[in-house]
Parts: sequence; structure tokens; C-alpha cells
Amino acid sequence: MSKVLRSVLTGVGGYLPETVVTNDDLAKFVDTSDEWIRERTGIHKRHKIADDQGVSDLATEAAKRALAAAGRTAAEVDLIVVATTTADLTFPSVASMVQRKIGAPIGIAFDVQAVCSGFVFALSVADGFTARGLSKCALVIGAEAMTRLMDWEDRGTCILFGDGAGAVVVEPGEGKGDNTDKGLLGFSLKCDGTKQDLLYVDGGPSTTGTVGKLRMQGNQVFKHAVVNISQAVLDAAEAANIDVADVDWFIPHQANQRILAGVAHRLGIDENKVIQTVAEHANTSAASIPLAMDQAVRDGRIKPGQLLLMEAMGGGLTWGACVVRL
Ligand code: UT7
Repeated sequence: MSKVLRSVLTGVGGYLPETVVTNDDLAKFVDTSDEWIRERTGIHKRHKIADDQGVSDLATEAAKRALAAAGRTAAEVDLIVVATTTADLTFPSVASMVQRKIGAPIGIAFDVQAVCSGFVFALSVADGFTARGLSKCALVIGAEAMTRLMDWEDRGTCILFGDGAGAVVVEPGEGKGDNTDKGLLGFSLKCDGTKQDLLYVDGGPSTTGTVGKLRMQGNQVFKHAVVNISQAVLDAAEAANIDVADVDWFIPHQANQRILAGVAHRLGIDENKVIQTVAEHANTSAASIPLAMDQAVRDGRIKPGQLLLMEAMGGGLTWGACVVRL
């Protein structure tokens, strides 16, 4: 059988900023309640970036932890892909800042912008380097400061989001080319630009010259999320030549507990196989999947050799899924 190069995830790390904001904290200045937020979203609290932190600081911390978990050093890193929609500056990329802050040598570094789906997109992009032998040690990071994009008077959005970063180290590994290999086995990525108005930020460098605030038609996004994510899961499973029933752990983007339950129900997935961090983290956009993975690896649920399925949907609309054997 012919040998193929696979993108193998060799370490994961996460970082959450110190400040915790509870639902009750939000109810002090916006017309909402802990009960409504828990019931409609599953969220109990979220973390908020400090005034003197930038998203690159969160990404750097997560990257260092992922490198330590993989037993690698910054000196070995030759590729950094950061999925973010809340960069420190319009440019340079967060990836280039992470390269400097961890002390990695000159190499490839850039950001990927696919909002909440960003981590799945970034992992698939990194695979284009690793699986062609062009990278020996990559960092794929999801990092967000979503609270910086909030309209704190809009109760339909400001209660949903939080800040954080998660990172994985990706290294090439030889496989047989079948679904028993370790590494990224298949993915499905999609964007429907006609649905932009459902979820967007109303500012930017080439229009308003401001950062802008997040705007969302929540119930519309919700409906698309369950349908699109379910299809992406099936498509990624087909690309990886696996059965959804064979997956050990589903690591979904953490937007709303009801979306996670809706997708699981639609696909007949046991909810005990779904890693859920939305209660503690809220929606951290591109950071939510690697943060959830980090938690479940550290608490011993996710083990080497297991089959993982990651899925997400976000602004664009973008959505996607990927299958990884750890
Ligand atoms: O990261 C990927 C993108 N984002 C998502 O996937 C989010 C998808 N959407 C959602 O999670 C849900 O749609 C929300 C949690 C945003 C809203 O839940 P919903 O069940 O779809 O509520 P709704 O927007 O249909 O609003 C129902 C009611 C409205 O009141 P009326 O018009 O029935 O009187 C809202 O004004 O709930 C009201 N409402 C709130 N009430 C208390 C909306 N937000 C709040 C709030 N507290 N925070």
C-alpha cells in the first residue's frame, strides 16, 4: 500500500483570560436574566480579555501550552496559521505577532478569516503545507476577543460571546492512506456569501474606517446552523471514509447548547459523545473548538488513537467540518 503524509495533531493548548463575566453581571446593564440566557443558550458565564491584552497575547499563551504538550519548542515552528476575526491591528497578522512573541524563527505565518468556522478552515489550510512536506512543525491557532465587537445595548448578541484562544501543533506523520491513519483524514468547507446580512460586523477599514459592532439575526442563523452543520458532518465523514457512528468525540463550535443538541438529534449522535464547553466559555468564535479539545484532552476524555469530528458555522455564512484521528 502506498504511503501518504498526514497532518498529525501532536499537542493542544488553551488559554482563557482571567476575568469572568456571569449572566447576572450582564443583567445589571442589559435587559436580560440568568434564567433566559441559560434556558435559550446554555451559557452560564464567559471570559473577557483584559484592557491591556490583545488577541495575539491570548494566542501566544495558547501556542506556548500546545508546544509544551507536543514536546516541541518555538525554535522548531515553521508555519503559524491563526484563525481570528478580532486581530490586534488591521495588519500585520496575528500570526506574525505570535511568531515574534514566542520567538519562532522566520517562516510562514498568516491569518485565516472565516469567523466562527475559522479553526476548521485554518486546520485544512495548514494541511496543504504539512501533507505536502512543506512544514515540519506548525501551529494552528484559533484566537478571539469577541467582546471587543459587542454592542452592549443589544441583548440578542452581547450575552452570547466570550474571549479565549486554543492552539494545536501539527506535524507530518506517515500513514497508509486509509481511515486508520493518525491525522487529518478529511474535511468539508463551505461559504454562502448571499447570507451575509444574517451575521456580520457593521464596520471595517475600507468602509467606515472603524472596527464596528456585531449584528446578527439570531433565529435565522440558528436555523441555518443546524442544517448546514449536519450536512458538513456527513460530507466530512464521507471524505474521510468513516461512518459518523464510528466517531469517538464530536467537538463542535460552541455557539448555543440548543444548536449542539439539534445537530446531535438530527444525526442520531449520542449527546454524551459531544464535548460541551458553551456553559463556561460562551461563544469564543474560532477559539471554541481548540479550547473544547484542550479541556477534554486534559481531563482525560479524549485519548490518543480516537476519532474526532470537529464542526462549525459562522459569519459569511461559512461552515465546515473535519475528521481527525488523534
Ligand atoms: O457562532 C455562530 C453564530 N451564532 C449562532 O449560532 C447563534 C444562533 N442563534 C441563537 O443562538 C439564538 O437565536 C439566540 C440565543 C440569539 C436567540 O434565541 P431565540 O430563541 O432564537 O430568540 P429570538 O431571537 O427568537 O427572540 C425571542 C425573544 C424576543 O422577544 P419577543 O420579540 O418574543 O418579545 C427577544 O427580544 O427573546 C428576546 N430576547 C431576550 N430576552 C432576554 C433576545 N435576547 C434576549 C436576552 N434576554 N438576552
